[in-house]
Amino acid sequence: MPSPKNDTFLRALLRQPTPYTPVWIMRQAGRYLPEYNQTRKDAGRFLDLCRNPHLATEVTLQPLARYPLDAAILFSDILTIPDAMGLGLYFSDGEGPRFRRPLREEWEIRNLDVVDPYAHLRYVMDAVSQIRKALANEVPLIGFAGSPYTLACYMIEGRGGTEFHEIKRMLYARPDLLHKILEVNAQSVIAYLNAQIEAGAQTVMIFDTWGGNLSDAAFREFSLAYVERVCDGLKRSNDGQTVPRIVFTKGGGQWLEALAESGADALGIDWSTNLGRARERVGESVALQGNLDPAVLLTTPEIVQSEVKKVLASFGPGDGHVFNLGHGISRNTPPENVAALVDAVHAESPHYH
Ligand code: CP3
Repeated sequence: MPSPKNDTFLRALLRQPTPYTPVWIMRQAGRYLPEYNQTRKDAGRFLDLCRNPHLATEVTLQPLARYPLDAAILFSDILTIPDAMGLGLYFSDGEGPRFRRPLREEWEIRNLDVVDPYAHLRYVMDAVSQIRKALANEVPLIGFAGSPYTLACYMIEGRGGTEFHEIKRMLYARPDLLHKILEVNAQSVIAYLNAQIEAGAQTVMIFDTWGGNLSDAAFREFSLAYVERVCDGLKRSNDGQTVPRIVFTKGGGQWLEALAESGADALGIDWSTNLGRARERVGESVALQGNLDPAVLLTTPEIVQSEVKKVLASFGPGDGHVFNLGHGISRNTPPENVAALVDAVHAESPHYH
């Protein structure tokens, strides 16, 4: 399989020269798009969208039909792994994800098994291959998973939006139990991402959404160490093409040097970190992806354009930048502001290459 016709994104991740800065948007398929809301309404539930490869393909392609994005991302969720472990994932409207059976008891943790993606998550691999077919090699496809620690947050807390008291109590009082969960998660994530790569994902991203809430020592022991294990276990290439890894620790600005040595090719940067300073700190070791504040997209096309220019200027001249938001797009974003963002990146970035 040759590289995609538009391979700027894959090249930027490997810090190779590109004529402009490629751009995609975290959560680019989602509720700010009326066509997504329609498909989701027809499907009934969010999880039914994820589990139906035909619908997952449809919503993956929706943002690409509207905007000249440089990458597609698999439509799925990081919580497919704990769901496959039998924790009973559901989404109640407006409240985000919940688990019917969060991990609390020692015996439950001792019984936790590594997920076999081909047995329990075949629908994801089917979606990956269908999306690749539908993309017809125009732009690359991103596969993804949660970091072992971020998955553990949901598995132990049983829901999002908490203060992480349950997982932190375990971290300090029973680190052996948390390490056991993280070990199972790391092996599951490795198997899952390698299966996505074999099904056709051309790069993979690890979302460490909650690692930034840890103390420095705890981050290194409970989040970073397992991200390193995952990177270590990933297939480096498929079909003769290198498969770059992107690691995104939200709130991880203080650990960039360490993250740059985790086995990642590129680091996701949230908006609280200065991109130019981040670049100086990691040097030649990794590419950077980010980092416009998603709230900028709540304004006007003119403001979006001027803020895009600031992010490009902050990274400065040279290769190895993938433009993105610093976190997922808000559901209240007017779609025309996304058009302004993508156009501004494509119009302004050639000056820097
Ligand atoms: O980027 C993309 O377009 C791909 C799809 C994607 C989704 N979730 C779809 C989704 C990706 C990459 C994710 C990752 C994900 N899921 C993360 C890590 C990224 C991050 O934001 O930090 C996390 C923490 C989750 C867990 C999760 N799933 C939450 C907290 C929620 C609720 C979000 C909310 O705003 O209510 C979900 C549901 C979810 N995942 C939606 C989408 C489009 C909304 C579902 C709906 O239609 O109601």
